Amino acid sequence: MSSIVILTGAGISAESGIATFRGPGGLWEGHRVEDVCTPEALASDPVLVHRFYDLRRAALAGVVPNAAHLALARLDREWAGELLIVTQNVDDLHERAGARRMLHMHGELRAALCAACGERRAWEEALPPATVCPACGAAALRPDIVFFGEMPYGMERIEAALARADLFVSIGTSGAVYPAAGFVQMARHHGAATLELNLEPSAGSAWFDETRAGAAGTLVPAWVGQMLD
Ligand code: APR
Repeated sequence: MSSIVILTGAGISAESGIATFRGPGGLWEGHRVEDVCTPEALASDPVLVHRFYDLRRAALAGVVPNAAHLALARLDREWAGELLIVTQNVDDLHERAGARRMLHMHGELRAALCAACGERRAWEEALPPATVCPACGAAALRPDIVFFGEMPYGMERIEAALARADLFVSIGTSGAVYPAAGFVQMARHHGAATLELNLEPSAGSAWFDETRAGAAGTLVPAWVGQMLD
């Protein structure tokens, strides 16, 4: 049984009603997302940054996984080989669909990170700036989101999985943000076949052996069916 690494981005959650970053509607109250996604923004305007993530966390209550999340959860249940679903998304729609073999490389909306002691914990409610960390007592809890300029989670595990992968599949990501945008080249370097499923060709499309253009809600169930049947 072969080994698969899947990378997902905002496009897989678009049909659930969560806006992508770089498409239409990718602005938030006039701010570029990048402007509320940096350590500098958190330091200079913590109220704005915390509110941005509070609203996005609260919005999760109103969305549900779509056919693409459900199809990847089915693949996770039924694929006997190695599988790792790496998501850049901070929503929890993969988990709610039932996927288990996964890694949130850019953090999670429903989690808080202590800037003082580094502990990560589940967090469902609003998170005002200077909330006290129950572990160390510092008034330093922040959204558990990897900002631009910070190291994504799980890079060693991801790189090891890419080195073993027979197939790398990228779903719903623009290929604009590194290191995720470079995974296709790493996978190729180690001999994996590469497939892109995206609404339109991404910035890195030329690196893929095959690119299928269309909505994730249609393309992903079809591809999973092809893999399992
Ligand atoms: N099905 C498939 N693909 C879609 C769909 C859909 N229904 N809707 C949109 N897309 C595609 C778009 O064409 C685009 O190429 O999904 C991609 C979304 O790209 P981005 O908005 O750039 O999202 P993503 O690639 O996940 O962004 C990467 O940037 O701001 C940071 O940390 C943030 O994790 C995020 C990272």
